[in-house]
Amino acid sequence: MDKLLVTGGRPLAGEARVSGAKNAALPILCAALLTEKPLALENVPRLMDVRTMAKLLAQMGVEVGAQSDGRLELRAKGIREPVAGYEMVKTMRASVLVLGPLLARCGRARVSLPGGCAIGARPVDQHVKGLQAMGAEITVEHGYMNAEAKRLRGARVTMDMVTVTGTENLMMAATLAEGTTVLENAAREPEVVDLANCLKAMGAKIEGAGTEVLRIEGMSSLSGARHRVMPDRIETGTYLAAVAAAGGKVRLTGAAPDTVGATVEKLVEAGARIALGADSIEIEMAGRARAVSLTTAPYPGFATDMQAQFMALDCIAAGTGTITETIFENRFMHALELQRLGADIAIQGNTAVVRGVEQLQGASVMATDLRASASLVVAGLVAQGETLIDRIYHLDRGYEGLEQKLSALGARISRVR
Ligand code: UD1
Repeated sequence: MDKLLVTGGRPLAGEARVSGAKNAALPILCAALLTEKPLALENVPRLMDVRTMAKLLAQMGVEVGAQSDGRLELRAKGIREPVAGYEMVKTMRASVLVLGPLLARCGRARVSLPGGCAIGARPVDQHVKGLQAMGAEITVEHGYMNAEAKRLRGARVTMDMVTVTGTENLMMAATLAEGTTVLENAAREPEVVDLANCLKAMGAKIEGAGTEVLRIEGMSSLSGARHRVMPDRIETGTYLAAVAAAGGKVRLTGAAPDTVGATVEKLVEAGARIALGADSIEIEMAGRARAVSLTTAPYPGFATDMQAQFMALDCIAAGTGTITETIFENRFMHALELQRLGADIAIQGNTAVVRGVEQLQGASVMATDLRASASLVVAGLVAQGETLIDRIYHLDRGYEGLEQKLSALGARISRVR
């Protein structure tokens, strides 16, 4: 199996282009299920997760075109089988995003329960609760959710916690429901807004995207549309964190600077100089970073998907940083791997206290999840000698051309067997 070999010690310099957002592309692909007309997408990242979602949709009878140059066309003229099996859902939890659209379009859906995952329990009770409020009958049998509703009805749903895919699932379902749905305590993540924009282009009536309350007026059908997927703010943040750790000067193009506020704030606190353009971000880091403390929170707070990369930064920063994870209960697996590189991290419950060391040393490490892998790459870029990262299929799920982009910035990074 492929591994990633990173030789540390070089600053990063040059320009890199940000890809389309994985977490926006996945729900948007599912939106194709809501109409029999074609959905033409642009800026779709070439990622394993996108391929998995396309495969899942194709299994249901969606015509999926060939992906080229970020373009991907989908057409769900007829849906053969509104089913997402365990084999797919266990490899990618976001598969659960087909539940709402399938139920709204077909009147029934059978979707595997995702089960546990490396970063925590991650139940889908809020998705279920919302669809039930909209009139769906949902039973769980043999590990599957069986959902039925002749036609979903608009309802007022208050979610118990902010859930990104939960909000997306219910928003998609509501676009074809009878009457108006109000979603309270909705996620405000930019990816939710991007999905809402795509749905609006398809003719949906949605108000309040980007706020805590979404109001969706159901339609009897939606049309096709053309939509450009937003830039990936987590990929953007990952490269910014890499430069803050390794030093240097890098310009990221094709980015959405207004979506990375919390990350940029922390980077400035760490000592980086940052200049925001309309769709570009320039970062310059001279000297050693200062440790930063942070607490993850729903958007616009500090993203849990950036926590691991900042832990890597704190590992070599001057001073001590305290990192508190509030979204997922078990999202510190990377800390143990970072310790193998010589990091000084003490974990107490959901808080990690990271004392910066002068130098990390390269070692063999194991990626445990997508963003954990990214943190090991950031650490590898500054560690002395070679870092060999195993299980990099996690990285391929969410970073398009990671080693090509980093090599172009001067990093010594390659894939080995
Ligand atoms: C999405 C992102 C993921 C990111 C996460 C938090 C996608 C494809 N994935 O995941 O990268 O890390 O948001 O920003 O967009 N919860 C429940 N019941 C539910 C739903 C969620 O208890 O029905 C809990 C979860 O266990 C977690 C918290 O709510 O503790 C937030 O999870 P959620 O926002 O749903 O994460 P995802 O949408 O799965």
